[in-house]
Amino acid sequence: MRIDVFSIFPEYLAALDLSLIGKARQDGILDVRVQDLRAFTTDRHRTVDDTPYGGGAGMVMKPEPWAEALSTALSGGTAEGESGAGERPTLIVPSPAGEVFAQATAYELAEKQQLVFACGRYEGIDERVLEWAGENFDVRPMSLGDYVLNGGEVAVLAMVEAIGRLVPGVVGNPESLVEESHSDGLLEYPVYTKPSLWRDRPIPEVLLSGNHAKIARFRRDEQLRRTAERRPDLIAKLNPSTLDKADRAALEALGWTVTAEAVLPR
Ligand code: ADE
Repeated sequence: MRIDVFSIFPEYLAALDLSLIGKARQDGILDVRVQDLRAFTTDRHRTVDDTPYGGGAGMVMKPEPWAEALSTALSGGTAEGESGAGERPTLIVPSPAGEVFAQATAYELAEKQQLVFACGRYEGIDERVLEWAGENFDVRPMSLGDYVLNGGEVAVLAMVEAIGRLVPGVVGNPESLVEESHSDGLLEYPVYTKPSLWRDRPIPEVLLSGNHAKIARFRRDEQLRRTAERRPDLIAKLNPSTLDKADRAALEALGWTVTAEAVLPR
């Protein structure tokens, strides 16, 4: 997968050299190209922003450097050929005004040949850049959640990690991707390691039983309990057809009613 990132703070993205994503870059699985947006300015001061039409606080990113920068992401080639054998690259614009980035989004984007990230700063990027880019990119303004960051860089680090780890070969043991939070609409069960007794705290006894069915049931119940407590919005989204008899009993005990159509709070 090819990943282009444009930012006025390319140093922020140095973290992409580390850990599993860094290793995947070295191994040639992820072709990550970070570029300084100011390299695409033409004036002496390397200006990337200007005052907003209509007035208001703050500055807006000028369209010209963005057009120059994004154009370079449309060429340069990949292992599959010129910018990915014909598929339109996806242009992700981090913004608190975007659609919310979730695990399902990460799975969807992990299938793409090329992702391009445009890190805005200040009050954002001139809207015409997104319209213009729509001619060549699938444009996706994306938010990490309902809070405001100073720019897109931190959001890009989070998204590249969430997406990159789903690309085959990036995570050594793909089984570790199966039983994690959000993979089945629930939060992950709690985990424990040695010693089995630590500061007067034993681990749950069932984990020492060797009874795999019982352990699986315990873990599933813990997932349901945690999710009901911390993220009731996720319980309400569960599809009843994915719940077995024991799941239903656990949910009833947690104060939920499971009907044929929905899971509802009592
Ligand atoms: N840029 C500023 N705030 C953001 C957020 N919440 N998500 C993504 N990008 C952002």
